[in-house]
Parts: sequence; C-alpha cells; structure tokens
Amino acid sequence: MKVLLTGGAGFIGTHVHHQLVAEGHDVVVFDSFRPDVHARRPDPRPGLIIGDVRDADAVTQAMDGIDTVVHLAAKVGLGVHLDDIDDYVSSNSLGTAVLLKSLGNVHNLVYASSMVVYGEGRYDCDDHGQVAPGPRRTEDLAQGRFEPPCPYCGAPLRPDLVTEDAAMDPRNAYAASKLNGEQLAAAWARETGGRVTALRFHNVYGPGMPRNTPYAGVAAIFRSALERGETPRVFEDGRQRRDFVHVRDVAAAVTLSAAALPHRPPFTAYNVGSGTVTTIGEVAAELARAYGGQPPVITGEYRLGDVRHITASSDRLKNELGWKPAYDLQTGIKDLLGQDRW
Ligand code: UD1
Repeated sequence: MKVLLTGGAGFIGTHVHHQLVAEGHDVVVFDSFRPDVHARRPDPRPGLIIGDVRDADAVTQAMDGIDTVVHLAAKVGLGVHLDDIDDYVSSNSLGTAVLLKSLGNVHNLVYASSMVVYGEGRYDCDDHGQVAPGPRRTEDLAQGRFEPPCPYCGAPLRPDLVTEDAAMDPRNAYAASKLNGEQLAAAWARETGGRVTALRFHNVYGPGMPRNTPYAGVAAIFRSALERGETPRVFEDGRQRRDFVHVRDVAAAVTLSAAALPHRPPFTAYNVGSGTVTTIGEVAAELARAYGGQPPVITGEYRLGDVRHITASSDRLKNELGWKPAYDLQTGIKDLLGQDRW
C-alpha cells in the first residue's frame, strides 16, 4: 500500500507509522505539528509533509500516488473548556470534511474514532433490562453518588460491554466531533463508492504517550505524578471502569484494517480494546507498584464531562479481521514506565 498517514507524528501515529513501514508499506506522514502538542516543528523531508488537513490544496497535493488514507489527525482529549468547542469542530469535523473532499481517486480510508461516541457504556437493570442512564447530575457527583441509577426505578445497574451497534450518545465536544467525522466518512463512502473503516479506540496507553498536558490520558497523568514523587490522584471512588489498550496493539489494528479495506463494505466500525476491564483505581495501583512509588489516593473529585463506565467488546475486530491484542496491562505498564522507545 502507499499510505497517507494524517497525524502521523502524534502518539498513536508514530506507532502506526513504524508498524506500516515494518510491514513494507510506503508511508507519507501528513502532520500539522500543532503547537499545543508538539514543542518543535521539524523541517519537511521526503515522506513528511507539514500541513493542516483543513488546507484542501495541501491535502489534494499530498494524495499524489496514494491508495489508502489513515486519518488520525485530530484535536484529542475530553473537551477541557467550553472555549475549546470551536477548535474541536474545526480540527476534527471540518478537518475530516476537507480531507474527504480532497481524497480524489483514493477509495480506502481508515478513520480514527473513539469509544466516546457511545457516551456511557452498556447497563442492565434487574427489572428493566438494558437501559440508558441519563446525564450525570452535579448534585449526585458532589455527594459521592457516582454510579448512574436505573432511569425508571433508581435501582443499581450492572455495567457491561458495548458492541458496535449500541446507540450513539456523545457527551462532550470531542465526542460529538469524533462521531461527526464517522458520519461524514460514511456519507463520503456512500457517494463515492469508497470504503471506510472507523476504529473506536479505547483508552490507548504506552511509550510516547503525551505528558503533562490537560489533554493527557490518565495513565500518563499518573506516571508523571509518580515521577515527581507524588501520589497518583484517583477521581471519584476509583471504581470507574475502562479498557486500557496498548498503543502497539492499536497500531496493529490500524495496519490490519488498512490492508483489509479493498474487501470491506462501504462503512464498518470496530471497537478496539484489550478485552480486559480495569478500574481506574486498579490502574493507579498497578502503576504505583510497578514504579515503586507512593500508593494512589482516592480523592472523590470528579469531572463533569466524564462517563462512569465504558468498556467495549472488540470481538468483531478479532473475528472479522483476526486482530489479537498482545499486551496485558502488567506488561504494558512496564513498557510505559520504561524508556520511551518504539
Ligand atoms: C479517554 C481519552 C479520550 C478517548 C477515550 C477512549 C484522554 C484525555 N481521553 O477518555 O480521548 O477517546 O479515552 O475511550 O486521553 N482520572 C483520574 N485522575 C486524573 C485524571 C483522570 O482518576 O488525574 C479519571 C477520570 O475521572 C476518568 C478516568 O480517569 O474516570 C479516565 O480518564 P481519561 O484518561 O481522561 O480518559 P477517558 O475520559 O476515559
């Protein structure tokens, strides 16, 4: 394949680049080196285009000779301030739209999506079956009531794994922009006969994770605290559930999906998680243990944009494309704590 890799200089992109090259593909990295992520901008060189996906001319030129596009370029994170809302829409929704209209004769697209499109994960009530909890209420969170109750009877719910056909319920600006990108890509595929695979990444961690930015994932935040000799601060009661998937397993999923595109339907979405449910408290404890640092503290703090539990089944990706994650959390955490290396 000759691949244009947008966001190829970022955390996930660097690993995807490495994996594609290792498998013998030609890769052109297209990255804006946005200053809120990258401290420095390198000089352009063969195989590297410094450009913004919102620049239609630059993207159109970059398509020369390309047969597959992997679109990772995005503003990531939770949507820390409402002030960011237009930047999410511009970087992610508009960025994807401009990329799509500039694809020309390229028919194969992998789109980096996220578990955030689902909002809260799957929940079951003993009496009411599968239910969708409402938005989290400040008064509940402030009083330490973190578990969402059944919207009909108020009973405790059992969290479970979401599958790709679950209802979409984006709960912050980032989530809305990522879902919008999926929808735009699906519209492109319908109109052009192209094919898109949307990969809904779970909590990605591993070497090269961004540090010390408000947009950093929790594993990097905990690692930074330990490196400063501080205690990792676990929000809520630490029992919120996630799935931490190693960045090299994610890179393998991207590569596999890209190679399979010529034989795929117009639009497919796959969850990409390790398959192991972990609580944030467990991740903090494992990181602290592996680092030999202070044990974590459970603070009861909360962030309004956070969901309580989100964990997904990645069986579809395993069954249809033969993807198999290689890292368990313990091995992955050792890797995260080691030297940053590829
Ligand atoms: C993360 C990603 C999001 C991605 C999604 C995929 C980030 C910032 N968010 O969202 O881009 O699409 O996974 O599922 O990378 N927490 C603490 N202490 C802290 C910081 C956070 O306990 O210092 C808790 C949060 O309250 C939350 C959990 O850790 O319950 C996870 O937070 P975070 O790493 O931001 O990830 P998600 O919100 O799951």
